[in-house]
Amino acid sequence: MLRITLFLTLVCSVTYVSAGVTDTLLFEVGRLWIQATRDLWSSMKNLVVYLTDTSNMYVWVCLAAVPVVCYYAYKFFWAPLNRVHGFGTLGYVPDAGRSMKETANQVRKRRQCGNPPPAYPNGWFSVMESRMLQVGEVKSVHGLGLDLAVFRGEDGVAYVIDAYCPHNGANMGIGGRVVGNCLACPFHAWQFKGTDGKCTKIPYSDGKIPDVAKVNSYNVLERNQMIFIWFHAEGGQPTWEPPEIEEITSGEWVFRGRSEHYVNAHIEEIPENGADVAHFEPVHSALVTAGTDLRYITSKLWDFGHHTFTGSWEAHSKPEGHIGSLTLKHSLSLFGFHIPVLDLKVTAMQIGPAIVHMFFDSPAGKGVYVQSLLPEEPLMQKMVHHIYMNWMAPPIVGKFFLYSEAVQVERDMMIWNNKKYEGRPVFVKSPEDQMVAKHRRWYSQFYSENSQKLTMRKDSKIEW
Ligand code: FES
Ligand SMILES: [Fe+2]
Repeated sequence: MLRITLFLTLVCSVTYVSAGVTDTLLFEVGRLWIQATRDLWSSMKNLVVYLTDTSNMYVWVCLAAVPVVCYYAYKFFWAPLNRVHGFGTLGYVPDAGRSMKETANQVRKRRQCGNPPPAYPNGWFSVMESRMLQVGEVKSVHGLGLDLAVFRGEDGVAYVIDAYCPHNGANMGIGGRVVGNCLACPFHAWQFKGTDGKCTKIPYSDGKIPDVAKVNSYNVLERNQMIFIWFHAEGGQPTWEPPEIEEITSGEWVFRGRSEHYVNAHIEEIPENGADVAHFEPVHSALVTAGTDLRYITSKLWDFGHHTFTGSWEAHSKPEGHIGSLTLKHSLSLFGFHIPVLDLKVTAMQIGPAIVHMFFDSPAGKGVYVQSLLPEEPLMQKMVHHIYMNWMAPPIVGKFFLYSEAVQVERDMMIWNNKKYEGRPVFVKSPEDQMVAKHRRWYSQFYSENSQKLTMRKDSKIEW
């Protein structure tokens, strides 16, 4: 009985004391809260009074800074990223006394080219991004050994024809004018139809238009916000098409940025990189902050983080024989701890010789990188990447993904820009090297008898 009495007395005392303390605490918190609200309100009133005092010079400075801050905030958080690196701006080690650009030009001439396959494989190639060609606009494009005039007729359709006018050789992509769905030459205004390249009008002649007054026109496909042409060394018609990405067409995935690079290498080197899983660790494992220069990516400063990639590549079977796919898992660890929020599952579909759709699934949302290649010269590739991401993901996330991917690609560029194409590589018996061999067999389907061979000198340098 005594124990029970003591216990009850203890409980009552503790309850009484805690109630008192809780009361005091609550009172104090409430008082502080009211005080903070009053302070905030009076600071805001003071700020409004200050900002409306037009006699104060600082007010005008602040007001002038507002649009600048808004513009940069918009650029940083919202506007699509546009990362463009012209030829010779990265991916080389400058010679002593030479700039990066001068070195790049030297490397193009002095580098051994090895024994590469033909320069221009058969397939669909993106000549331009749709957003860059408005109705009534004409642009000049050089690629695949062709000079092309790309224009959008008044019907909104994109047309591609050979640029040189048969009358007297003017380049119609430079200063030509769109008339209806035809392109008028800038020199004497002959008009050529976008659909078949035939001349439809010679402004100063009533006579018959000669049959030879025509230029080549190309099969054009506008898809996934790109303008593609079909190129085939034998003049063959398309046997497949790049698939439509429905999420882009429907607007579910939104454009968040692009990157543009010029790679000094044979076109096949770039897709082959996807099947070359053995290069992921040496080239891509360092943190993005370690930069793009392979000489410094192993710096101690950044070795607290590590990207890990595991993947495999395989060719599809018919009727999708023109597709190869890479499945890849990416994870990041910092100070030895795995960061699951940055895990990425990637499926990269290589569609023909020059298009890649790389679908990813991240904790921030789904999306796709679209890569397109255009050989501007036998060993000079224009490489464009786009990123589209679920509209709900903040734009800055998509921009960051594109930036990270661009940095990784720029590391590859340092290899591509300086290597030779090794037609007889020394492979070992390993799944890694076998995958590259498999990729080469798959890619060989895009060359045909008349595919343009590179003319080599004896020292394996390309004729210049
Ligand atoms: S050169 Fe084109 S119309 Fe004369
Ligand atoms: Fe790579």
